[in-house]
Amino acid sequence: MDIEKKKWEILCSEDDIANRLKELGKEISDEYKDKNLMVISLLKGSFIFAADLVRNISVPVKIGFMTTSSYGHGKETSGSVSMLADVTDDIKGYDVLVVDDITDSGLTMKYVLDHLKTKNPASVKSCVLLDKPSRRKVELIPDYVGFTIEDKFVVGYGLNYGDYYRNVPYVFVVTDEDR
Ligand code: IMP
Ligand code: MG
Repeated sequence: MDIEKKKWEILCSEDDIANRLKELGKEISDEYKDKNLMVISLLKGSFIFAADLVRNISVPVKIGFMTTSSYGHGKETSGSVSMLADVTDDIKGYDVLVVDDITDSGLTMKYVLDHLKTKNPASVKSCVLLDKPSRRKVELIPDYVGFTIEDKFVVGYGLNYGDYYRNVPYVFVVTDEDR
């Protein structure tokens, strides 16, 4: 793959992520201590983030999954979001926290929040590892953000490049420089 020939610049190291997730986990545990928390992880991108995040949450939590279409193999959003797989759990009465890897245009998160609200949860909030606020196409401010980043295409820790590199344990940017 072409990005193998380029230098990778680490944006969030394994330590950065681990430290930030401890903080986020504490904040979420405090806020949801007397609630019925259900984390909904958006696949595929958030599977690693969600797995690490829930292990930093100390209150009872149910976990569900949803798959939405996103960038496919390109770097630009198509502008329309579609659902490939809905949640299988009944979320009625639960305090739902939607977890995604990154919010870019905001279209995916807005679509998912609007969709889940029709299922009568007690509340719905959002949590993303990365936020690129400069790219918004719809008004959306995630309730919990790991790191706010500039407008750069990022890879690793669940985020893909051509559906590969999700397993890289840190978040990186591909530079123009050859290795
Ligand atoms: P949005 O709908 O434009 O907010 O995009 C959200 C989805 O696009 C995320 O769930 C990611 O899967 C994907 N995405 C957005 N930016 C990046 C990126 O920099 N790298 C990899 N995937 C991205
Ligand atoms: Mg995604």
